Amino acid sequence: MIVLAFILILIAYFVLSTRRRAKEPPGPFKWPIVGNLPQIAMINWSRVWFAIDHYSKQYGDIMGMYFGSRYVVVLSNPKDIHEVMKRDEWNGRVRDNNEKVKSSGKHLGLFLTQGELWRETRRFTLRNLRDFGFGKADMETSIMSEYRTVEEYLDNQIKTENGEVCFDDLFGPPVVSTLWKMVAGTNCDFEDPHIRRMQQVVVDTLRRRAIGAGLFFAFQQLGRLFPELSGFAQQRDGFKFLKDKMKELVDEHKETRVPGVLRDFIDVYMEEQEKNPDNPNFFDEQLAVLCMDLFVAGSDTTTNTLRFVILYLILHPDVMKKCQEEIDTEIGRERQVGISDKEKLPYTQAFLLETDRYCSMAPIVTPHCLTKDVVYKGYEIPEGTIIFMNNWGIHRSKERWGDPENFRPDRFIDGNGKVITNDEWFVPFGSGKRRCPGEILARANVFLYAANLLQHYSFSVIPGTTKPSDEPVIGLNLSAQPYSALVERRK
Ligand code: HEM
Repeated sequence: MIVLAFILILIAYFVLSTRRRAKEPPGPFKWPIVGNLPQIAMINWSRVWFAIDHYSKQYGDIMGMYFGSRYVVVLSNPKDIHEVMKRDEWNGRVRDNNEKVKSSGKHLGLFLTQGELWRETRRFTLRNLRDFGFGKADMETSIMSEYRTVEEYLDNQIKTENGEVCFDDLFGPPVVSTLWKMVAGTNCDFEDPHIRRMQQVVVDTLRRRAIGAGLFFAFQQLGRLFPELSGFAQQRDGFKFLKDKMKELVDEHKETRVPGVLRDFIDVYMEEQEKNPDNPNFFDEQLAVLCMDLFVAGSDTTTNTLRFVILYLILHPDVMKKCQEEIDTEIGRERQVGISDKEKLPYTQAFLLETDRYCSMAPIVTPHCLTKDVVYKGYEIPEGTIIFMNNWGIHRSKERWGDPENFRPDRFIDGNGKVITNDEWFVPFGSGKRRCPGEILARANVFLYAANLLQHYSFSVIPGTTKPSDEPVIGLNLSAQPYSALVERRK
């Protein structure tokens, strides 16, 4: 009798826990406890975005999935993304315990906050970074002064190493320095072991985030039970190290600042604190985590993109040749390429857009979270639902791109030879209210570095070695495999 009752309870539990709500978006069969993890594992366990895209094709542009008991809605149509991401309620962040390791148990900074703290911090950051150079002529001067260190390094390698260059570490220091001058008023001195360690920590910490991504995302407690295996410990320690460094920076600024003299973004933030001491959204710890967010975002993303740029040039010499011919014809070799030359270089621009599309560095955009119940296209989606944007699927859609697996910059050139910069299926920086605030700086860096390098150098596979692979390394952001290339000054 007891056994029978137990079996009946088990059956009832199975039936109930596999049922989906009446008006929830369609998705794969939901298993008790593990949800859709078995289906994800069947397609690709380590590259979760492949599995997500696979099931989106089967179940549609708005799909519901369960990571354990955590409910996720995946958006795979950019029209939906552009529409809903304009609305406040789609722009929350996941209230996740593991995420809080970044800021010692609190949701702080820009990435993890939502509501008034996020809105005010974001508005303030955008406005004031603009004042310190984002999008202005100063920004170009600052980028180009850092860029010169790359040319110096390449010329030296050509002289001393027959032009063999390892691209793992090359772009990080100059790219971060440009941002850091705006934020903290100083160059990042990469000879300084603290700064080197900070950048290494960013790289290691973000890579560790990919370990067992689906499993540890589904069962948060596992991260704490198996801190080493899950990468939780490295993340916690890495973020603690970074946050301590940022606190030191904030303290230093406090000691050295002169009220009314605004050297950099941190000074402006402190001035705001002083002017409005009752504003609860401006405080020292928030400033430290905000600086950390900017450092982390600024360190990994642009640098990764530039490494993909050189990699694709090596793998597609015909594309490199076309870019160089365009630059030779439109600009020549006598003066440096500037932002205002963009219009004259549609093919070079198209190459960079294709690089963003093809690498899809953020294959699933940093998850959002619904801050209230919504009804969208007839589906009822409850508050707290995690929202994934399927950037990988959008950038690799056969329906939109025809031959998405080919690297073909021409797809971004229209019938009149003009570059298409506003394709709605192109969303590397996200969309709507949380769209990347660093986009202007990132695009300027990538364009100026790529165009000026192409003007003076050629890149190719080192003779006698195999072609580097374009399979990305998995992490929070995808990155290019480590590779070296032969660099030659153009004749
Ligand atoms: C090629 C370079 C870059 C790419 C592809 C990129 C992409 C993205 C994406 C996809 C998001 C998520 C948007 C969302 O949640 O909906 C994001 C957010 C963010 N990015 Fe970038 N990013 C890049 C460079 C930068 C740089 C240089 C900075 C530094 C200023 C930066 C700062 C941020 C911040 C602070 C956020 C969080 C915004 C928020 O939650 O409101 N990014 N970025």
